[in-house]
Amino acid sequence: MKLLVTGGCGFIGCNFVRDHLREFPGDTVVNLDALTYAGNPENLADVEDNRNYRFVKGDVADFDLVEKLFADEKFDAVVHFAAESHVDRSIENPQVFLRTNVLGTQSLLLAAHKHGVKRYVQISTDEVYGTLGPEGEFFETTPLAPRSPYSASKASADLLVMSYFTTYNLPVLITRCSNNYGPYQFPEKVLPLMTINALADKELPVYGDGLQRREWLHVSDHCSAIELVLQKGVPGQVYNVGGVNEKTNMEVITRLLEILGKPASLIKHVKDRPGHDRRYAINADKIQRELGWKARVGFEEGLEETIRWYLDNRAWWEKIVSGEYRQYYERMYGGR
Ligand code: NAD
Ligand code: TYD
Repeated sequence: MKLLVTGGCGFIGCNFVRDHLREFPGDTVVNLDALTYAGNPENLADVEDNRNYRFVKGDVADFDLVEKLFADEKFDAVVHFAAESHVDRSIENPQVFLRTNVLGTQSLLLAAHKHGVKRYVQISTDEVYGTLGPEGEFFETTPLAPRSPYSASKASADLLVMSYFTTYNLPVLITRCSNNYGPYQFPEKVLPLMTINALADKELPVYGDGLQRREWLHVSDHCSAIELVLQKGVPGQVYNVGGVNEKTNMEVITRLLEILGKPASLIKHVKDRPGHDRRYAINADKIQRELGWKARVGFEEGLEETIRWYLDNRAWWEKIVSGEYRQYYERMYGGR
């Protein structure tokens, strides 16, 4: 199979590309990534020499570039990760979220349709369902009710994706996963941010009371779910992914401090995020029942292993924190 992966230099994309090349050594993977602040080609330095892997620097919203790539490469399948992914940034600057997340998806769908792609997998998020009270969970049939510019842009993209199924019979599939954690997560997201601050004995900024609830899934379990959906999912279907490890932010951060042997006094409650979603909880029965997916990594073990990864890979995040990582890819590829 010849696969187009978008956003492969980001957190989940790089884990997926690495896993896929290992599991399907006969496949070819082309990684289209614009190398925004969140894209770091060093994330895939270990596969750069693989003959079945190729990196293309480009913007998914640039239709001419996308169209030419599809015409040249004749992809069998697309897995679309590329996105602006951070809620706080979407509150500061929503414009780029709409361009990348909505128009970028549209340009891929159009090219996929035009070139007869056989599988198109859209990587969406549980945030499209909005927020929950203390009870209940999100099903695939739960109405979309996004509340941040980020989740609104992701929900809009999902609607477009489904419209291509209904209107053009494009064999699309959508995954909606809960919060991921694991190696290579950009240090603006809560777990790496808190780990790095704690290591430097800096304050950990907890939004509001910190009693917001999230479900934490190890990135390798998300990637195995995407792989199953890519290989065996039914076109036109949505698959929720997650359903394990619901925790308050305070529980997660307190445990992180315990593992690092740092004092709870580093926690500082700061002004809450505007429109902060209180609780997410995914029902993932469908993907378990229909595709046989199962999460493998327990939260305790996964958190310890992830913290260990950040301890063992200081050079990776120190370059990001200092901004030096941009020089690497400006030198290699010309960043933006
Ligand atoms: P990330 O921010 O770490 O990586 C995004 C990648 O996309 C980067 O490599 C970036 O350079 C690239 N990119 C951004 N704009 C682009 C553009 N216009 N053209 C081409 N490439 C572009 O994100 P992530 O956490 O790996 O998330 C990947 C996908 O998974 C996103 O679609 C996100 O909505 C979804 N998702 C994330 C989580 C999570 O917890 N991180 C959970 C569920 C779903
Ligand atoms: P985040 O990693 O941004 O993911 P999302 O908002 O997509 O769930 O944040 C996870 C939770 O952590 C969320 O409830 C916001 C909270 N948070 C903080 O309390 N402080 C921080 O500095 C950050 C980045 C997040």
